[in-house]
Amino acid sequence: MKKIIAFMLATLMIVCAFASCGAKGKTLDQVKEAGKLVIATSPDFPPFESLEGNKVVGIEVDIMELICAELGVELEIIQMDFDSGLTGVQLAKYDCGMSGITATPDRMENMLFTTPYYKAAQVIVVKEGSNIKGKADLTGKKVSVQTGTTADEGCREEGLTVDAYTANADAKAALTTGKVDAWIVDNLTAIQMVEEGDGLVILDEKMTEEPYAFAFAFGSEDLVAEIDKILKELIADGTVEAIFAEYGETYFKP
Ligand code: ARG
Repeated sequence: MKKIIAFMLATLMIVCAFASCGAKGKTLDQVKEAGKLVIATSPDFPPFESLEGNKVVGIEVDIMELICAELGVELEIIQMDFDSGLTGVQLAKYDCGMSGITATPDRMENMLFTTPYYKAAQVIVVKEGSNIKGKADLTGKKVSVQTGTTADEGCREEGLTVDAYTANADAKAALTTGKVDAWIVDNLTAIQMVEEGDGLVILDEKMTEEPYAFAFAFGSEDLVAEIDKILKELIADGTVEAIFAEYGETYFKP
């Protein structure tokens, strides 16, 4: 009996090992052969990616379009929650993750990142007249964040009470409807979404500074190297800065 169980366990382990080995990111040749780069995105993050009708538009779309043109492939965008995008890329369900993704050391253990192209920050958004004036005032307070983001992780690490929402708009709504005391979100998205006018303000003191990059599954090393060459050139020749300017934003190089 013991032998049978041991045999079954061993078989199971081998099957599992093979199943996870199967999930590998595409190589440069495989992407060129497919003729397209399949990109996962959470288009609730202006000015980087948002919806205009059914179309995903924004700074990252413009950058990726230039990269794909240079690679000679089409850009195929698939919409999903931020969290599902990260997991999907890791499992190589999609070729690339494009969602204002912060390249963190933790994430780097699970996926590949291009060279960072922008220095962003997490900010604190509160209702006008709130007595929260800075980071220190958040102690003991409840904050809203988008699920699986660096704001989610960071606020939990700081010991704050966190309400996480899959959709960014819901994280904002939690603040406007008074469910939480503050909303922690990336700076440029905060500016855009606060401008919608719901009596919210962004505090001067930032939570963190963090670099954005595009994410890929392990196995896509040569693809990432090729994209890095293109991206570095787009940064060096001022193209990326000009794209930010088109959206009325100042560019901060990481
Ligand atoms: N930069 C943050 C992170 O990587 C938030 C990104 C949220 N992106 C989005 N498309 N909703 O965790």
